[in-house]
Amino acid sequence: MRSNSLLKFRKINSEKDPGYGYLTPIQYPDEIPFAIKRVYYIYGTKSNRKRGSHAHKKLHQILICINGSVKIYLESADGKKEVVLNDPSKGLYVGPGNWREMSEFSDGAVLLVLASEKYDESDYIRDYDEFVKYIKKQEK
Ligand code: TYD
Repeated sequence: MRSNSLLKFRKINSEKDPGYGYLTPIQYPDEIPFAIKRVYYIYGTKSNRKRGSHAHKKLHQILICINGSVKIYLESADGKKEVVLNDPSKGLYVGPGNWREMSEFSDGAVLLVLASEKYDESDYIRDYDEFVKYIKKQEK
């Protein structure tokens, strides 16, 4: 699996009636490549604010915008990309070695994050120059 990729989850509507709404199940290993040890969500972020600006050494995550929209910038050994998340049936897999920045949060945006490990500050790379050195070293 590449270091980041967009995943499309199922949207179940068992009544075959749009008014009934949808149910999206996320179960390991069927829908995602890791077992979930932690869940957190980000909300209340103003549209002119940026969050993230760090990478992880071991952590795997799935980012799902369950309400509203948010822009995600990713940079890894595979290159740079921007993804707008605005669909609760899509998840952005972000593996280790990805610098991420979240911005342009819409009003009411809720970004749900599924994580493979418990919170561990020593897994973070918070300095961009250190991140660039880290991924160059990994490539050797
Ligand atoms: P951080 O991961 O730096 O988020 P962001 O880049 O969006 O600001 O986390 C913000 C704060 O929350 C930081 O003090 C660490 C704390 N935190 C936890 O205590 N547990 C967690 O699971 C996470 C993700 C963060």
